Amino acid sequence: MKNILSANWIKSPKLSQECEICYTKQFSTEKEVKNASLEITSLGTYVARINGNRVGDQVMTPGWTAYRKRLQVETYDVTDMIGAENKISVGVGPGWKGRYFTGNERCAEYFLGVRETALICALAIEYADGTEEVIVTDDTWVTELGKNVYSDLYNGYKYDPLYVDPKPMDAVVFPKDTNILIDRDGEKIIEQERLEAKEIIITPKGETVIDFGQNMTGYVEFKVKGNKGEVVTIEHAEVLDAGGNFYRDNLRSAKAKAEFVCDGEEHIHKPDHTFFGFRYIRLTGWSDEIKKENFTAIVVHSDMKRTGHFECSDARLNKLYSNIIWGQKGNYLDVPTDCPQRDERLGWTGDAQVFIKAAAYNYDVERFFLKWLADLRADQRPWGTIPHVIPDIFDCDENSSAAWADAATVCPWQIYLSYGNKELIETSLQSMKDYIEYIEMQSRDGIWCKSWHFGDWLNLDASDVGKCDIGTDKDLIATAYYIYSSNILIKAMKLCGEDTAEQEAKRETSILAFRREFMADGRIKPEFATQTACVLAVHFGISDNIAETAAQLNELVTECGHLKTGFVGTPYLLHALTDNGYAETAYSLILREEYPSWLFSVKMGATTVWEHWDSLREDGSMWSTDMNSFNHYAYGAVADWMYGDMAGINVDENNPAYKNIIFKPVTDSRLDWVKASVDTRMGTVASEWKKADGKTVYIFTVPVGSTATAYLPDGEHVLKCGVNEITV
Ligand code: BGC
Repeated sequence: MKNILSANWIKSPKLSQECEICYTKQFSTEKEVKNASLEITSLGTYVARINGNRVGDQVMTPGWTAYRKRLQVETYDVTDMIGAENKISVGVGPGWKGRYFTGNERCAEYFLGVRETALICALAIEYADGTEEVIVTDDTWVTELGKNVYSDLYNGYKYDPLYVDPKPMDAVVFPKDTNILIDRDGEKIIEQERLEAKEIIITPKGETVIDFGQNMTGYVEFKVKGNKGEVVTIEHAEVLDAGGNFYRDNLRSAKAKAEFVCDGEEHIHKPDHTFFGFRYIRLTGWSDEIKKENFTAIVVHSDMKRTGHFECSDARLNKLYSNIIWGQKGNYLDVPTDCPQRDERLGWTGDAQVFIKAAAYNYDVERFFLKWLADLRADQRPWGTIPHVIPDIFDCDENSSAAWADAATVCPWQIYLSYGNKELIETSLQSMKDYIEYIEMQSRDGIWCKSWHFGDWLNLDASDVGKCDIGTDKDLIATAYYIYSSNILIKAMKLCGEDTAEQEAKRETSILAFRREFMADGRIKPEFATQTACVLAVHFGISDNIAETAAQLNELVTECGHLKTGFVGTPYLLHALTDNGYAETAYSLILREEYPSWLFSVKMGATTVWEHWDSLREDGSMWSTDMNSFNHYAYGAVADWMYGDMAGINVDENNPAYKNIIFKPVTDSRLDWVKASVDTRMGTVASEWKKADGKTVYIFTVPVGSTATAYLPDGEHVLKCGVNEITV
């Protein structure tokens, strides 16, 4: 990035917050072009064309960052697109407008105090004779209202191919420094897969609905002709209701609608500035015959490389695993989001941190998180708080919630463990320290007691379904998380060669306070005893008698026969059991298919992981009409147990990035075989076990350059590089 620094920010003189603005510039070249590159970014999402041809294959550019401080610039090689007479045109839509819940004025300001969309770009042309020319955005560019006559991330869009702005106007240059411009640091956002329509359904209400067979994130490409002036619409939904009718109440205020104004000509069309979370679409206003082949769902997400694979002898678990993968695809579209469909789609820190370990097995998420963590640091307040969502469009700075804000420690550390990125730890260290210091200010005698928290979000301890955050004591959760994050900070400081004595002393104070306040005789006191409370005391190593607290956890689970945990307890529940001799209970939980369980949604036909254990109930009713996403990856965190315990593939904290591999597979009589593999920085790591003649055959693959140990029922086995087969 260099030429863009001499370009100007331009916008349309028309106040236009909810449509696309098209910026154009014509120019001619008389000499032979040797090289041409376009540096570009926008406030809003842009689609650039030169002489009618789309520049690059990325969508939803420039992605979503902490716009006030960081805006990504892409550089495209456009050498082959330049001719003698040229027209560059850039359509800019609102995209990730700084708005949450349609109509929330507090967030309606665009980025950086600008309410309208805006563009900045520079086209540099190097001629064969050695001369150079740079065309930059300035007031000679023309602006028109674009053919996306309505455009909104949540509501969708209306596209009119015949629309021509009757009054194009010169662009207005406005002052805005270029300090926020950075080269793209995230993954590209790319169209990844194309899904054919599975079925055309005429619902009991008589509506025409197409089922793509998979809940996903992206948009529909469709072929349409229609009669001139006719408006065809496509609305998006994740599920059908109990009566088999199109259901979209759970999208809340997001209209998630595509409208196309027919001109009587045949078009193949897809949107430019939005995406949807859906499995079904409802068609209205179509006079064309509805044919399956005219509709294709295009899956869009960040261009991460798939690294992990898991399979076992139980088809239901394989389906759960597939649902988790789809959850990641659907919610890793530039920012790790809670859900991709309703009027939210935000980078909720809690969701991101509970899922990151699973995510890093499934895909190479290093670059994806380097970007998001840069945004987290950019949005962190000087006094240490981490906003609930990153990028922070809530403008929330007074409070950090335990288990959400801990993304500041958990996420960098996981990226370090999975990929060995020590530089990220160095870069994140101050942010971690500031956050921990904020907690210490919010604590009294080692108990983090002064902040508001989301608690064990969506747990089943509270009898009142509407009370999502009631259940496990919030000070207990917060203090446990302080200890967990302190553990990470101490490891990070050690890695950076810093003295940790003071931090260790503070952590010790909290550990003792936790035990004093919430525990007695190695058990969580009865008034605080929930599954999640035990899970945290065990998994974060806080209890002074881990075996006893784990036994209490096992009792709590076996007494009621199922899990009751929410966002905070669920990710570690099976680990806490398996690590302490209760693998059979852990397996019973993951193999259970009655509500509440992971397999309940699978039994109910889910193709992604749900927000609630009972988003859809057996009788066909819904958890609620509002907060009810069918594509929420948080509970999909269990995939890290599937890789790490069922298949037994683990990194060694002291020698990360799979330089030393710890294989610890845990078998169960209800499964015949399990196999998994992960493509790591060292090469492919694989683990497999299968039952044969009353014995278990283990097969481990260790990449060249790695060391590995397998911990099996008969003891430790030091493995060699290549394939190792051991029968026990
Ligand atoms: C989101 C969650 C998020 C939560 C905060 C919800 O609306 O969808 O996933 O973490 O708010 O508790």
